[in-house]
Amino acid sequence: MSPCKSLYALLALLSLPCLPHVAASSSRSQCSANAYVHHFNLNNISGIITSDGPIRQSQNFFSVPDAAVTLSYSFLFRSTSPIVWQQNILLIDLPNIGRVLVDTGLNARVPNPLFAGTGLLMRNLRAIHVSPDSIDVVLLTHGHPDHVAGLVDDDGNRVFRHATVYVGEIEHDFWTADPFINPSSRVPNATLENISGIYRRSLSAYEPDVVLVANATSPLPGVTFLLYPGHTPGHSVIQIDVGGDRKLMCVGDAWFSQPDQVRNPEWVRPVETDGLQGFQSRVALMRNLSNSADLVLAYHEEFPGLGHIVRSTSGFDWVAAVDRNHDVVRSQC
Ligand SMILES: *[C@@H]1O[C@H](CO)[C@@H](O)[C@H](O)[C@H]1NC(C)=O
Ligand SMILES: *[C@@H]1O[C@H](CO)[C@@H](O)[C@H](O)[C@H]1NC(C)=O
Ligand SMILES: *[C@@H]1O[C@H](CO)[C@@H](O)[C@H](O)[C@H]1NC(C)=O
Ligand SMILES: *[C@@H]1O[C@H](CO)[C@@H](O)[C@H](O)[C@H]1NC(C)=O
Ligand SMILES: *[C@@H]1O[C@H](CO)[C@@H](O)[C@H](O)[C@H]1NC(C)=O
Ligand SMILES: [Zn+2]
Repeated sequence: MSPCKSLYALLALLSLPCLPHVAASSSRSQCSANAYVHHFNLNNISGIITSDGPIRQSQNFFSVPDAAVTLSYSFLFRSTSPIVWQQNILLIDLPNIGRVLVDTGLNARVPNPLFAGTGLLMRNLRAIHVSPDSIDVVLLTHGHPDHVAGLVDDDGNRVFRHATVYVGEIEHDFWTADPFINPSSRVPNATLENISGIYRRSLSAYEPDVVLVANATSPLPGVTFLLYPGHTPGHSVIQIDVGGDRKLMCVGDAWFSQPDQVRNPEWVRPVETDGLQGFQSRVALMRNLSNSADLVLAYHEEFPGLGHIVRSTSGFDWVAAVDRNHDVVRSQC
């Protein structure tokens, strides 16, 4: 039971409300720093979405004019100055597996103003009394820095000391190939080599506890990696079976967010290694998801990034899951 819910139970006896703003006057700024904690239930399992904080894109990186991006974002009352992409990280205790984290955030490791709002994962875990030592398993959708850099600290040591890391084998082989082969005329060699360097540094700390996972296989009971390449050569969607009819689908960066690649799956970004393959993967995945009631976790969607893909007259759309109770933790700080 969450602290606020147990407090509710107590206060119900006393007929007092559980006021989320009890300590607001003295600690509002701290509260905003660890507000990224969202509890949810799926079938009989409860999980938490937290975040490493927002990445703020000050310019349009898509393959279409600024005006098209601004228009699509404005339809959803979302700003493009800057475009804000969250880093939604799943934390879930799974029977027979242990405590699982999906992706790890950027940890503000790359010194770039776009990433200044990141690096909140540890603070958010502390706020809910989750020690990094309690994480048994880290699952990675792909090898970009905003998904892997949080694995290590400034000295390159493991952050999750007892964790085994699972990553798609094509993805791992791509970023660790020596010499590094650039399959793409789209992404500059220097960019890919830089990403490769961050990947190697992040993963090498976990050797020999790194498990490479082939497409459509389950390295752990109920956890299946499904290859949806294009964003990167071995990008995986991680399917988690939580024991009921609905699965949890961690789609990583198969798309960025609703106003861009959900409504406009043909938009690509320069950092995506194969734009056409990414588009095809995205459409195949969204078609599949629109035919299911599975709960989707979209990594860069507005916090907490849980929802469903549905059909629309022009293609696909995103419907956020309504069960929002962020205040549970905000009220404690
Ligand atoms: C980028 O690397 C590839 C090999 O991976 C090489 O063939 C190509 O010439 C390089 N491009 C530049 C501009 O250095
Ligand atoms: C990658 O680029 C960033 C920013 O340009 C730089 O700080 C970092 O040292 C580079 N990392 C590697 C491993 O090349
Ligand atoms: C991954 O495996 C599934 C199931 O076997 C298959 O349908 C799919 O085409 C594979 N994906 C790729 C990119 O090879
Ligand atoms: C969920 O819990 C209920 C009540 O304990 C139980 O009847 C049901 O079988 C459980 N469902 C699953 C999928 O475990
Ligand atoms: C896509 O649909 C097929 C069958 O319709 C199913 O076997 C597969 O698991 C689905 N994949 C995803 C990612 O939903
Ligand atoms: Zn990403």
